[in-house]
Amino acid sequence: MNDDLKALIRTIPDFPKPGIQFRDITTLLLDPAGYATTIDRMVRATIGKVDLVAGIEARGFLFAAALAVPLNAGVLLIRKDGKLPGATIAEDYALEYGQDRIAMHEDALVPGQRVLLVDDLIATGGTARAAIRLLRKAGATVDQVQFVVDLPDLGGADALRAGGVRVDSLIR
Ligand code: PRP
Ligand code: ADE
Repeated sequence: MNDDLKALIRTIPDFPKPGIQFRDITTLLLDPAGYATTIDRMVRATIGKVDLVAGIEARGFLFAAALAVPLNAGVLLIRKDGKLPGATIAEDYALEYGQDRIAMHEDALVPGQRVLLVDDLIATGGTARAAIRLLRKAGATVDQVQFVVDLPDLGGADALRAGGVRVDSLIR
């Protein structure tokens, strides 16, 4: 299943560093039917009522925002630190190819709200784990995370599952 969508993603070798096989979703976005089908399948994979869909900068925004509309949920932006104008809380994390820090507005959610975390891709899971820590620090309930692409060899999705979070991805 989802081989139709997998065919729309291309691999760029040695980006952004030698040895990284970069899974490029820009080609999926350029395909109207492919993008719409992606969002439709993510809607179907969503369990229960969601108050907010949290997207991780930058590629995660493209899926979080489109998913929030049919789910009748708001969109919460998790950005690279230093980009949000209001008071923020932040978390550091390690990437497959570097180190970074993400932030959200400290008043973006009401404690107890259920937040669906969305990103384009999970590799090591460092980004998603930091995002979950951040959302929970703000008082969110986070029990489901969705990705378009999972790179299973890097173990990120399994680590999230081991922590008790439901993880769905369309493409491995
Ligand atoms: C990519 C991707 C995920 C993250 C996954 O983002 O969009 O957010 O890496 O890697 P991990 O599971 O090992 O943490 P990137 O930081 O390259 O940012 P971008 O979306 O702004 O390109
Ligand atoms: N983010 C982390 N690893 C990645 C990869 N191999 N391709 C695309 N995005 C990524």
